[in-house]
This record gives sequence, structure tokens and C-alpha cells, in this order.
Amino acid sequence: MTETAEKDTHRTGYDFVVVANRLAVNGVTASDGSTGWQRSPGGLVTALAPILASSGGAWVGWHGAADETLEPFDHDSMHLHPVPLSEEEVEDFYEGFSNGTLWPLYHDVIARPLFHRHWWDAYKRVNQRFAEAAAAVAAEKATVWVQDYQMQLVPQMLRDIRPDVKIGFFNHIPFPPPGLFAQLPWRHPVMKGLLGADLIGFQRESDAKNFQRAVRDRLGFYIKSDRVYVPLEDEAAAPLEGFTADPARGTAPRQLSAPADGTFRPSEATAFPISIDTDRIVELSNNPKIISRAAQIRAELGNPETIFLGVDRLDYTKGIRHRMKAYEELLQQEKLQVGKHTMVQIASPSREGVESYQRLRDEIELAVGRINGEFDTMGHTAIRYLHHSYPVEEMVALYLAADVMLVTALRDGMNLVAKEYVAARRDGTGVLVLSEFTGAADQLRQALLINPHDIDELKAAIVQAAVLDQEDARKRMRSLRRQVVSHNVQRWAEEFMHRLHQL
Ligand code: F6P
Repeated sequence: MTETAEKDTHRTGYDFVVVANRLAVNGVTASDGSTGWQRSPGGLVTALAPILASSGGAWVGWHGAADETLEPFDHDSMHLHPVPLSEEEVEDFYEGFSNGTLWPLYHDVIARPLFHRHWWDAYKRVNQRFAEAAAAVAAEKATVWVQDYQMQLVPQMLRDIRPDVKIGFFNHIPFPPPGLFAQLPWRHPVMKGLLGADLIGFQRESDAKNFQRAVRDRLGFYIKSDRVYVPLEDEAAAPLEGFTADPARGTAPRQLSAPADGTFRPSEATAFPISIDTDRIVELSNNPKIISRAAQIRAELGNPETIFLGVDRLDYTKGIRHRMKAYEELLQQEKLQVGKHTMVQIASPSREGVESYQRLRDEIELAVGRINGEFDTMGHTAIRYLHHSYPVEEMVALYLAADVMLVTALRDGMNLVAKEYVAARRDGTGVLVLSEFTGAADQLRQALLINPHDIDELKAAIVQAAVLDQEDARKRMRSLRRQVVSHNVQRWAEEFMHRLHQL
């Protein structure tokens, strides 16, 4: 692009730009074979779409198909700017570095992260492409909000091209303790990539503190009250070189006092726990069709006394095996009985090209087969296992049908399923068993909190949930609902944007 053309684009570009690995729409094929786009159902899109619509915003992201280049288009009052990925980049950037290196490393090394240099090269290349796409659509002094771990280099790369824009970043997954993060051969460039943002949001206080400690220990930057003082000298010396090397070989000398004015750029790293589109879930839970679908689900399961529900992406972070182990032992010990009790496990297909996900699917399906083979009767099942994704209407019907929601993640940035279950239980019934290793546990303190690694504790919580005194259950659910109803995803987005503009 010539300099003049570039300037024109800045003048006429978009004042608010979201950058995320996935575009905000999914391709759909109608029954007559025609194709089109549908807004993605997730909370993030729901929260940001109105801001995009009112501020003339654009969304930069990958549309989900490899080796396909699409022209930008408008849909649902949003400007969509697709970024193409080749088949090889899907393997190396998405399945590889994002989900074979960062995902396991950031989730407490539950699975072994793989460190491949060609994956890192693809990650840099793709992040640069996203940064350039954002730079091309952003108006002069626009606000750009970069989302999640697949895009950690984008803030600094974008700042290098467009120093005039305001940059926010939000990490939807945990940020690991410094000792684990230190394993990453490219820890320095990742930290510097993130510090390109004016505001870096994390799910939990502990994630923000982990990031700050890594920056303080490894880069030596001065930090006070969540504000990182990024030396301008450092940024100017080698803005891009920082993406190729780990110059300090470990740690850097710590700056012990705030640098002089004019020698640093502030970058704030702080917690903004995300939430759900509470109104939508509440509205659906009030819909007579969905209420009768819930009754139908219960009837189809043989009207058991207690339905336990698990809803997860089929991911090793979710603790599905731990949940099943606890449930199997309770059946063996006759503390639970098929017919009286049943478990529904929704495991939506995810990242099926990644080997650790393929192995997990085999293990889970082996366990389900074994448990059902041993405990099923002609009329009743121990576990109704469904390897599908469902529309939100069916999910809400399941939330209404389930007496107990089991969230047993070994590590989870937030866990929105826990919040959706609470939002759906308008009548104050239902019990949430919640892993303390989820971001949601920081806010949903009245759930039955468990350590999923402690199978005996998990078993005790499952039994307790099944027999919990109604008054106790209602008291807990009332308190949980107060939290979820007053903190929806719209409020999360507003608070983040408000802080970003204050800075
Ligand atoms: O939790 C992080 C996240 O990226 C979510 O934003 C997303 O819904 C999920 O993981 C699955 O992501 P993907 O299918 O793009 O790998």
C-alpha cells in the first residue's frame, strides 16, 4: 500500500477493531444448499457485537477454513475482515504452537507442551499477518482489542506499525506461574508482545500477578499497582528483534524505582473476570418450549431422582476422567444407583487434529463403555455420553433438567458453563459442584468447591449435592445468582473499555 493510500484508510477506517483467532461469524449452509454467515453464539461476540455496531467497528479473524482467502464483508452491522490461514499454518500455528505448546503450558502442564521451532515461526508469521490486517482497518487513533493466547505478539507488532492506536489485550485462559512459563523458549518475546498493549486483562488476580512476576523477574521492568513501566529505550532498541531471541538468557537485573517521566510507556496488567450473556440465558430458561424440553429430557432418562450433568469441550483440562472415576466408584460402592441416579456428559468435539485430544477421546469413551457395560440396566443408563455440540436452547433445557452440575476442571481460565447453569436456575434450585481451579471459583464461592484431584473429596461432594437439604441448596443458589445476574459479559466489556480509555 502506498503511504497516501494508507493514510486514507486510516482516516476512513474503523474506530473500534477486535482481533481474535476466530471471526465473529460461522459459515452456514441452508437446506437448499445456499451458503451464508451466522453470528457465532459465544458470549464474547454477544458482548462486543453491540459495541461494534454502535461505534462502526470491525472484527479481524480467521473464518475457520484452510487455504481460502475471502474478501472483507459486512454482516449483522459488523465489518468482518477474514485473515487466511494455509493448511500448514493451521497445523503449525493453530494446532501446533497455540494448542500443542501454549494451551498445555498455560494450563499447568496437565499435558506435555511441545516446543517446536517451526511452530514458533508460524506463530510469529500469523501474528504479524493479524497485526497488519488490524493496522489496515483501524482508523486514526482507533481502539483495538486483541483477544487471547493465539494472538500474544499482536499488541507489540501492531504498535510498531500503528503507534497512534490504543491497544487492549484480554487473555481468556490462565497465565501460568512464572516457574512454568519459564519453560517457554520464547518467553521474552511473548512477554514483550503482550506489553505492546496499554491494558492487558486476565481472568483472575492470580493470572495478573503471575504475569507481573514473570515480567519483573525476567525483564527486570519496574511494576507498581498493576502498572508495568516499559522502558522506551528497550522498545526502540529492538522492537522486532525481541521476537527472535531470549537476550537476557534467564533473568534481568531488576529496576528498583520508577523510571523518569518520558523514559517509559505504561502498560497495565490487571484482572477482569469474564462472564456470560446472563439476560439471554435467563430469558431462554423462562421459555415454555425450553421448559417442556427439560421435562422431556428427564422423562427420556427415566425420571431419575438425580441427574448429574457435565458439559465440556472434550479437553484434558476439564477433568472429565476424574469426574467419571468418582462416579464409577460411587456406583461400585452402591452409594449411587442406576435408575435413581444418572449422569449426562456432553463432550463437544474440539481440536480433533491434535494428538492429545484424540488420545483423550479414546480414554473417555473406553471409560464410558466400561461403566455403562457394568452398571446399565435394560431401561436405564449410568452415563448418557454425547459427543456433539448443541445450540444454546438445548443447553438451557439441559441446565433446567439437571439437579447437579459437575464442573471438575483441573485448570480453567473461567468456565462459563458454571455461570450459565446458575443463570438458568431461576427458581433457585439446583446444586453446582465447582473445581477450585476454575476462574469462576473466585466469584462463585457458594458452590460446593472441590479439588478434582482428590477423588474422595469429589465423591463426597457428588453425594452431598444429591442429598443437599433444600433450604441450604436454595440459599447457595440465591447467592450464586446474585453474582451472575449482576456481573454479565456486557458489564465485563464496558469495564475493560472504560479502563482502557482512562489510561
Ligand atoms: O478458552 C479459550 C478458547 O479459545 C475459547 O475462546 C474458545 O471458545 C475455545 O478456547 C475453543 O477454541 P478453538 O475451537 O478456537 O480452539
